[in-house]
Amino acid sequence: MIRPADSQSLEEAAERLRRGELVAIPTETVYGLAADAWNSTAVGKIFEVKGRPPTNPLIVHVASVERFEWAAAWPPSDELAELLDRLAPCWPGPLTVVVPRNARIPDVVTAGLDTVGLRVPAHPVALELLRRCEFPLAAPSANPSNYVSPTTARHVADELGDRVAMILDGGPCRAGVESTILSLVERPPRLLRAGALAVEELAERLEVSVETLVRPAPARPAGPAAQLAPGQLPEHYAPRTPLFFADEPVVATLADRRVGRIRFERRGANEPAATEERLLSEQGDLSEAARRLFAALRELDRLNLDAIVVDRCVETGLGRAVMDRLRRARRSR
Ligand code: TXA
Ligand code: MG
Repeated sequence: MIRPADSQSLEEAAERLRRGELVAIPTETVYGLAADAWNSTAVGKIFEVKGRPPTNPLIVHVASVERFEWAAAWPPSDELAELLDRLAPCWPGPLTVVVPRNARIPDVVTAGLDTVGLRVPAHPVALELLRRCEFPLAAPSANPSNYVSPTTARHVADELGDRVAMILDGGPCRAGVESTILSLVERPPRLLRAGALAVEELAERLEVSVETLVRPAPARPAGPAAQLAPGQLPEHYAPRTPLFFADEPVVATLADRRVGRIRFERRGANEPAATEERLLSEQGDLSEAARRLFAALRELDRLNLDAIVVDRCVETGLGRAVMDRLRRARRSR
């Protein structure tokens, strides 16, 4: 059930979490499906409700950097402490760091890895709930595995419905794409997922180049076992309707079909309108486009169209995350 996030529902949410139940919560990026990260039974329910493979680790959320030791091996090495100091101004915010984990975090959270993904979300409701909890919250995006992430409480209810007893409504998410994930167990740090915090900002704080951060993963041994390495699963974020980029040759064959068109800029004067048009930002602002992208994909996906056609955008700032999500949606048909 969707509940406005007032003081009473926040206390009820904390109580449910203490009892090992799941609560859907707003964050600044996307809505999360939260459980007590120290309770393996509770965390197991997240995987069940989402249909998530057990090899895909969860992100752990805490109320402040001081509480990183609730999930991370502590104290950190001098080298890691220095990196965390440089990144500290990013929290609360849409940055997840992967660091060595402590023994209180059960295997189910990290898919058996000896590292954990950690962040302090920048949403007043998430922060207030985290402050009331005497434990960290494991929370993946609150959508069925591989579907588009939810950016409103209604999105969560549409897909997960009565499978979550409580959905805290904190309004539409400000960022609209998931957090940026940075591995601090590789040196120099390496980007694992482009997200709502621009990689350019991380490069500046860490005094390394963007190219260094976005370098490819170190080669792993070939074979099926390597492909299933935890934390490396290809996530899809895909609508059910086939999605294409506007510059693909196949788009020419869609002229007589029912097409949903997502644009980053206004339609050209000579270009015919598609069946459904969605302009993500009047001014071509990438932050605004990112904020509205998932809602647009969900809306178009409900209309039983033949295809969704979308422009490419520049891959700087939030454009990197937007293009990453669109490529995943394109690939997974
Ligand atoms: O913005 C977000 O990050 C949202 C909100 C709810 O915080 N959460 C989110 O979680 O997007 P999820 O489950 O959709 O993405 C978690 C991803 C995993 O798929 C994996 O790629 C990475 O985080 N991850 C988590 N722990 C990891 C670890 N120990 N090593 C490598 N990657 C890890
Ligand atoms: Mg997800």
